[in-house]
Amino acid sequence: MSNDPVVNQVAQLNDIVEIVSGYIPLKKAGRHFKACCPFHPEKTPSFMVNSERQIFHCFGCGAGGDVFSFVMKIENASFPEALQKLADRVHVILPKRGTDREGQEGKSRKEKLYEIAELAAQFYARNYNDPTIGAVARGYMGQRGFDSQVLEQYRVGYATDGWQSLTDYLSKKGYSQELLYASGLISKNRDGRPFDLFRKRVIFPILSAQGRVIAFGGRALSNADTPKYLNSPESEIFKKRDELYGLNQAKKHVDPDKSQFFVCEGYLDLIRLVQSGFLNSVATLGTALTVDHCRLMRRYVMEAVLVYDGDRAGESASIRGIDVFLEEGMNVKLLSLPAGLDPDDFLKEKGRGSFEGLLSKAQDIFEFKLAHLLKRFNPKDTVGLVRISNEFLEMLAKVKNSVLVDRYLKRLGGVLGIDENSLKKEFLKLQSKSSPDREKDWGKTRDIKNSSKPQAKFLTHEWTLISLAIRGKKFIDLLLKNLEAQDFQDQEAGAVFKYISGNRSGTIALGELLEQVRSEAGRSLLSNLAFFDLSEEENEIAFEDCVFKMKNQSCADELSSLLSKMKQAEASGEEEKVSEYLRQYQTLVVKKKSL
Ligand code: CTP
Ligand code: MN
Repeated sequence: MSNDPVVNQVAQLNDIVEIVSGYIPLKKAGRHFKACCPFHPEKTPSFMVNSERQIFHCFGCGAGGDVFSFVMKIENASFPEALQKLADRVHVILPKRGTDREGQEGKSRKEKLYEIAELAAQFYARNYNDPTIGAVARGYMGQRGFDSQVLEQYRVGYATDGWQSLTDYLSKKGYSQELLYASGLISKNRDGRPFDLFRKRVIFPILSAQGRVIAFGGRALSNADTPKYLNSPESEIFKKRDELYGLNQAKKHVDPDKSQFFVCEGYLDLIRLVQSGFLNSVATLGTALTVDHCRLMRRYVMEAVLVYDGDRAGESASIRGIDVFLEEGMNVKLLSLPAGLDPDDFLKEKGRGSFEGLLSKAQDIFEFKLAHLLKRFNPKDTVGLVRISNEFLEMLAKVKNSVLVDRYLKRLGGVLGIDENSLKKEFLKLQSKSSPDREKDWGKTRDIKNSSKPQAKFLTHEWTLISLAIRGKKFIDLLLKNLEAQDFQDQEAGAVFKYISGNRSGTIALGELLEQVRSEAGRSLLSNLAFFDLSEEENEIAFEDCVFKMKNQSCADELSSLLSKMKQAEASGEEEKVSEYLRQYQTLVVKKKSL
């Protein structure tokens, strides 16, 4: 694997199956594990982990590699960062490199902050469960109708009214005052004396997606105490925009047939949702939804159902928040509750059945936005009509799925009584203005960092297709029937394909195939892929996905070249050329859709 013994040691101590399942739900399937790929949108699982070889590979998009490549890709991290993360996990101390000193000390400091947060969570939980000390907190939560099992699962705790209880406890454990301040749990008063931030509050520990305590929220027990909620400040281990309360639990309860999270705003809204049986729920921490939240959720689910207080869904801020989902290729639905009721109130008063009733009526974001626009502007007057269509098209321009775009153009045309084709024209104009790159897929855009060498094209989905040649005659025939050497953009893959097509003996063994491959990358990928013994059906899916990706890519390239030609022709006023290109463009869009 590597020449560096420490790197090898870290690799050996970290099991790839365990690491991957910390991020996405894995299912055992024969000799390997399966999941939906976190690196590109897909409905059927084609992402596989092979524990024997300690590698992963997505037979749909071609992403693959070892435990380091996985962490790098999913955390968007560099190799040293991934190495550090995995080394920390198994308590391997990496040798210090001269320039890296600061980073090293930074890491062990973070490790201490995690320890402090964990100790504090245990401290608060002990208070909560103490027969005398915790009675008032348990009384409050019980009177609001929360079950003790669920509260225990979320590690709910209690901070007493002492000014230095936690301060004393943590100081006795030997942490420096500076570190205690850095944890955010301890503040400094005007005389420079430390005191506990949380007092006389029910405590909600905030856990990272991987299940480590990183921060806290605290609710006052009485309305007289303000503020109602207090949250840990951001720290070296807590960035509010990147975290979702409850995610570490929710990710274990995603139904593969209904791949969705419920998203609410409050700690107790979340706990109520879970207590009512909606285990796949998360909460934002009193902030608007960010693109980071969306990416985080996108690793686990296809769809977010935003559960909002009826009043607040109308606020433009929440609609603005929603647009980020579209940009990330995630479905969004809005479940509006009656005005004045939050999810906690609603579920408590009306029960699970009524909630499910609302769920079945949840609007998707387009219906919501359209209804909102129709309220704001009058479609009967020309100015209003233009405003509505412009705003709607602008939102639509962010959608990555062209089938959806088409569907909504149709609907918009219907509602406004405008010819669909003129809407389409407006839409194309907008699209070419916004970003010529939008056809690029999700996996690609996340990879920008690592793909700085366009001349050396190594296309893993093409090599995945090549690897199917060792799966028997049926797959060789499939390859030869559907592809030609020119279809391959990766030249070496194309050459190997030619070899396969010249070989008429019916089967090809791995060794024989490897003899045809000169590049290290190609050889290593092929021999790794041979280690996944996929079912016939899985091989078929891989075939279809990769052929789709190949053709889709070449259509996308052609589309973007047509777009720039169209722009040029438009600029120089060559009307005829523009409509010719537009015609070609539309034909190609139809073709792309029928792939
Ligand atoms: N919040 C906060 N600081 C506040 C008020 C609210 O951080 N001063 C955050 C909390 O995460 C809270 C969420 O916003 O859970 C929603 O606030 P709100 O609707 O006011 O409270 P509820 O969750 O309804 O709380 P409760 O039912 O306990 O009144
Ligand atoms: Mn509430």
